[in-house]
Amino acid sequence: MKILVTGGAGFIGSHIVDAYLQVGHEVVVVDRSAKKQYINSKVKFYPMDIQDKELNLVFEKEKPDMVNHHAAQTDVKQSLENPNETIDCNIGGTINILENARKYGVKKIIFSSSAAVYGDQSEFPIQEDAEKRIISPYGVSKYGAELYIMCYARLYPLSYTIFRYANVYGPRQQNGVLVHWIRKLLTNKPCVLFGDGKQTRDFVFVRDIVEANVLALTKGDRVTVNIGTGQETTLAEAFAILKNIHSSGSFIKQDQNEGEILRSVLSNTKAKKELGWSPKTTLKDGLKETYEWIKQNAV
Ligand SMILES: NC(=O)c1ccc[n+]([C@@H]2O[C@H](COP(=O)([O-])OP(=O)(O)OC[C@H]3O[C@@H](n4cnc5c(N)ncnc54)[C@H](O)[C@@H]3O)[C@@H](O)[C@H]2O)c1
Repeated sequence: MKILVTGGAGFIGSHIVDAYLQVGHEVVVVDRSAKKQYINSKVKFYPMDIQDKELNLVFEKEKPDMVNHHAAQTDVKQSLENPNETIDCNIGGTINILENARKYGVKKIIFSSSAAVYGDQSEFPIQEDAEKRIISPYGVSKYGAELYIMCYARLYPLSYTIFRYANVYGPRQQNGVLVHWIRKLLTNKPCVLFGDGKQTRDFVFVRDIVEANVLALTKGDRVTVNIGTGQETTLAEAFAILKNIHSSGSFIKQDQNEGEILRSVLSNTKAKKELGWSPKTTLKDGLKETYEWIKQNAV
């Protein structure tokens, strides 16, 4: 099968590309990034913006069977500063992909949505049908893209799997609290802890995310599922694991960012039922692998 992966030069997308190639698929990547270090040499790479009008030329030439859509403006803070840019990229870009998908007979789209569509919740773990209490333009853009995908799937013969990821971490990641801390530890600098460290997150390892994206090639038609561990970890607990891996470490406290969510953990019951997916990597093992990778690659 031929699969077009958008965002295939990025953290999660590049791992998915490697896995799809490994199980024998042909892969085409569209990514606007000039950074090519993680793009597998076996793919055909189109350095292009997903909002580009000429995206149709890629679809016309490649005629992909499926699209795995991971390209996005991913920075929540940037989305608050410049909401238009985020909406243009994440909703406008998705519509451009959907229009080409229907014109060129794509069978299915796999989409990377986010726990950001839930916003501020009071019941945990968060179920897929929880009321959406979004608190960032990034979250709105992800939810908007989900709605467009479902709309196109009703209008045209296009299937989908929508994944709402928790906090993903792992090798090749550039941003995120855990990789920032690892870089600080490796350079013997103090890590910054915002707030009291009691905020919780659901940290899911990138290899588990990849497995869900492989399963979605044959399962999970027309479903939206959370992809998280179901385990709530405080930032203080995550820091303690890293400190143990590095054998030392200190942190400095700073005021919590305004609007930061205090608790986040996703139910993965539906992912188990629909895809047979469950997370396999413990936070301890995933952090060890990420730490070793950053150490080896000095990034
Ligand atoms: N990392 C997480 O914890 C997390 C959590 C929830 C959802 N997601 C979603 O998963 C996807 C991948 O995230 P990531 O962490 O790998 O981010 P990333 O920034 O490493 O990768 C995104 C890639 O998309 C590309 N891109 C961005 N805008 C583009 C555009 N307009 N046209 C073409 N390419 C474009 C970037 O160049 C980059 O290579 C994103 O859609 C993100 O919203 C990530």
